[in-house]
Amino acid sequence: MATTNKPGKQPLIEKLQQQASDLTANVQGSQAWNSIFRPGSIFRKGYTDSPRNRSYVIMNSVLYHLHPVKVKRHAVKVSYTLCLGGLSFFLFILLTVTGIFLMFFYRPTAAQAWSDIYTLQTSVTFGLLVRNMHRWAAHLMVLSVFLHMARVFYHGAYKAPREFNWVIGVILLQLTLLLSFTGYLLPWDQLALWAVTVGTNMMGYTPVFGEQVRFVLLGGVEIGTDTLLRWYVLHVLMLPFVIVIFMAIHFWRVRKDGGISGPL
Ligand code: HEM
Repeated sequence: MATTNKPGKQPLIEKLQQQASDLTANVQGSQAWNSIFRPGSIFRKGYTDSPRNRSYVIMNSVLYHLHPVKVKRHAVKVSYTLCLGGLSFFLFILLTVTGIFLMFFYRPTAAQAWSDIYTLQTSVTFGLLVRNMHRWAAHLMVLSVFLHMARVFYHGAYKAPREFNWVIGVILLQLTLLLSFTGYLLPWDQLALWAVTVGTNMMGYTPVFGEQVRFVLLGGVEIGTDTLLRWYVLHVLMLPFVIVIFMAIHFWRVRKDGGISGPL
């Protein structure tokens, strides 16, 4: 049965709908909204799905901007890159996030380091989980960076014009290994102490400057709390800072070298 309304009286539901669409129009027309949702965004007033708007979406978003507007068909095939470079980057982000969590509970001194890790595992909510995520992500990152390098080599992508990016990649591999090694000392357990003793002794055999290199790495003549502080700063600040700079150059070079390599 059809509902009848008194003349001049709008049904409540229609009134609410009208108010909601007025509000949407006002918000979408505001300067604040349009400063956040740039041209091409589906959230803008009057959006249409056109090639121009699709390009705008890429150009106006800081995240999408990292990707080129156009990509070659083979470059988006997962089976070509196996996404190993992207996976290495993802693991780095995961390591940063979990690492920040660990920093809240860890003090880098010989007296506190081991017990802080023990407390983290036994008394902190999600402590064991986050520590293990950090450890596993570190192992996986070494593996994925290595496999990524093997993939690049297999495809001959180290050849011109990508030889500079290959060199940047070699530096990234070394930084990844250094991050892994400096993190190894931080739990301050027997495994860590002896691994670092062996590592720094080996570096002591560097020609000409061996003793000096060893002294700098240990922060003294033998492994101790100064070594821990030194490696901690390297692990949480200096090496991540340097690797981020090299990653930025690496990604920028992929773009400048004409995107991912491909079959000729
Ligand atoms: C932290 C380590 C690294 C990260 C995060 C990283 C990331 C990436 C990403 C995201 C790409 C785009 C395509 C892809 O996934 O393959 C790429 C390409 C490339 N990477 Fe890496 N990479 C790293 C280490 C390395 C290493 C160790 C090498 C070689 C020694 C290397 C050499 C290259 C080259 C030459 C390309 C261009 C490949 C092509 O055009 O096919 N990268 N990298």
